Formats: sequence, C-alpha cells, structure tokens
Amino acid sequence: MRRELDWRRTFDRLQLAMDDDRGMFLVVRGPSGRANPMTVSWGQIGFVWSRPIFTVFVRESRYTHECLVTADSFTVNVPESGQLAEELSVCGTTSGRDTDKLQICTLATHPGERVTAPYLSDCSLHYECRIVARRQVELADIVARDIMEEHYANGDPHLIVLGEIVGAFVRDDR
Ligand SMILES: Cc1cc2nc3c(=O)[nH]c(=O)nc-3n(C[C@H](O)[C@H](O)[C@H](O)COP(=O)(O)O)c2cc1C
Repeated sequence: MRRELDWRRTFDRLQLAMDDDRGMFLVVRGPSGRANPMTVSWGQIGFVWSRPIFTVFVRESRYTHECLVTADSFTVNVPESGQLAEELSVCGTTSGRDTDKLQICTLATHPGERVTAPYLSDCSLHYECRIVARRQVELADIVARDIMEEHYANGDPHLIVLGEIVGAFVRDDR
C-alpha cells in the first residue's frame, strides 16, 4: 500500500539519492506502450507557473529521449538508500531500445495513480508527473565553456522535460 505525501516533505529522501549520485529510475512509456526504466541523477524540483515541477534532463542518444517526445507523463522512482544498486547500474548502462530492462532486472511495476506511466513497486518513494513542457537544448545554447567541454565534447545535448508533480507517494511500511 502507498500513501500520498506532500511533495515538500520528500526532500530528505530525494536528497539522499541525488547527493551521492547513485541515481533514481525515470520510467516512461515508449510509442508501443512498453514502459522503460532509465537511471537518472540530474533533476530538480521547483515552482513554475505556480505549480510544483520536476524537471529531468535526458540526452538525445537515449531511448528514453525517444519515449519522452511522445509521452504524456513520467514517474521518478527513488529507492531506499543502498537498495537496488545492481538494477540502477543495469538501467544506467543498457538501452531499452534493444532490451526489456524491467524484465531483465525483474522490476515489478504498478499502474500510476494519476498518470499513464507506471511506477516501480520496489521503490519506497515515487513522484507522478504530467508532462507540461519540453525543450531540446542546442549546443549553441550552452554559454559556459567549462560545461561545454566537460559535458558536451561529444555533442548529445539534453532534452529538458518539465513534469507537473500531480502526486508523491511513499510505501506505507515507512
Ligand atoms: C548514476 C547514473 C545517472 C545517470 N543520469 C543520467 C541523466 O540524468 N540523464 C541522462 O541522459 N543519462 C543519464 N544516465 C545514463 C543513462 O541512464 C544510460 O545511458 C541508459 O542506458 C539510457 O537508457 P535508455 O536508452 O533505455 O533510455 C545516468 C547513468 C547513471 C549510471
């Protein structure tokens, strides 16, 4: 069972995942309807258009990029500290273009409460987000030379996707 939590009260759990760069799972359905989990460590929560927004950054080369350009929603799934390390590694190094990562990682999904994207049952916290805006970064948009050299030497700029947080949920055993 899951209970809904005010998204403002999730920062401590989220920060743990972001602090040590171990990552979280971004889950999006592809054009065929199959859900794909991808490990992400870049993300931010803030207020835009007077709404809580979870923003994710996904490079052009990812299969998830292909999914995000047509999807209407995504979920961000945060495992308990130290858990699902192997799954985070697999979902961060293999592509859903040629593999069913949910199957190879034996990750169970559950239909989203408020969105069409499913969430991962094994993660103790998840956010449900309705996609409200997308913007493909062009290399010319990057004005800081150090960031360009460090992150875009091989091109592959990010798609920035803004999702309105329509629900944040925790497993009820916590
Ligand atoms: C800890 C970690 C964090 C990552 N964060 C991101 C990220 O924020 N954005 C991104 O585009 N790729 C990120 N990646 C790389 C993708 O997860 C990886 O390329 C993945 O295989 C893409 O899967 P897909 O092709 O199924 O979308 C990260 C990888 C790891 C291991």
